[in-house]
Amino acid sequence: MPLINTKELLLKADQGNYAVGAFNVANMEMIIGAIKAAEELKSPIILQVAEGRLEYSPLELIGPMMVSAAKNANVNVGVNFDHGMTLEKIKMALDLGFTSVMIDGSKLPLDKNIELTKEVIREANKFGASVEAEVGRVGGSEDNSKGVSILYTDVEDAKKFVKETGVDTLAVAIGNAHGVYEGEPNLNFEVLENIDKVIEIPLVLHGGTGITSDDFRKCAKTGIRKINIATATFNSVNKQAKELYENDKKTNYFKLNSAQVKGAYDNVYKHIRIFGSENKD
Ligand code: 13P
Repeated sequence: MPLINTKELLLKADQGNYAVGAFNVANMEMIIGAIKAAEELKSPIILQVAEGRLEYSPLELIGPMMVSAAKNANVNVGVNFDHGMTLEKIKMALDLGFTSVMIDGSKLPLDKNIELTKEVIREANKFGASVEAEVGRVGGSEDNSKGVSILYTDVEDAKKFVKETGVDTLAVAIGNAHGVYEGEPNLNFEVLENIDKVIEIPLVLHGGTGITSDDFRKCAKTGIRKINIATATFNSVNKQAKELYENDKKTNYFKLNSAQVKGAYDNVYKHIRIFGSENKD
């Protein structure tokens, strides 16, 4: 049963100095493609779905599929609830067997973020699941609704947050943004190095789409143990479907199904190789 607590995957990554890809999925085809890539590369992987996307992929449907895919995989798979906003959905994800949840209190004042995170940790503890939180603010937006400006993670805030909450993993803001970057992404490695020096728990990088391979590798050498990729996989699936319709006028539903699997597979495969988690399972 290779469904595994996400924290366990990331602590192993910490020892091996690599990062594990956390790939957002929206349907069965994307789950199949992501797991296939991880199995071929003998890599651990994290599947995740964000609360902001449940409108398209209801949690009661996508959740059991993700958990079942993990249990049936021949590599270790963490199943994460990404950008949890409400306790109701977080509890539901835990009930379904997710092995970690993220509580996104990044828009709250630090003390409120601490309070909320502690409440989520109490819930997650009942299930033996781990918790990710965010200090500072990642830019862009998780569901394309509205752009959010970047606020670098403050080292002292991060220290206080980790000490007071006992959270398992911490998402940092170092110039990263969700969705497609306006211009070149400009990661501030000085900020990351300063955080890495004082924070012992695995760090998480959101907004992976558009970041260069070199920067990903640098992140993986500077304490980042989980890298979130969403938009690039959705775009890759979309591209495969578009090409299918353009190139095969007599196509059918089942070819569309395979095209979506391939779209997810291609993007996950590419990123696993960059993150250094190949052959680490
Ligand atoms: P991207 O859509 O920029 O890849 O961000 C993914 C993410 O951070 C999910 O939480």
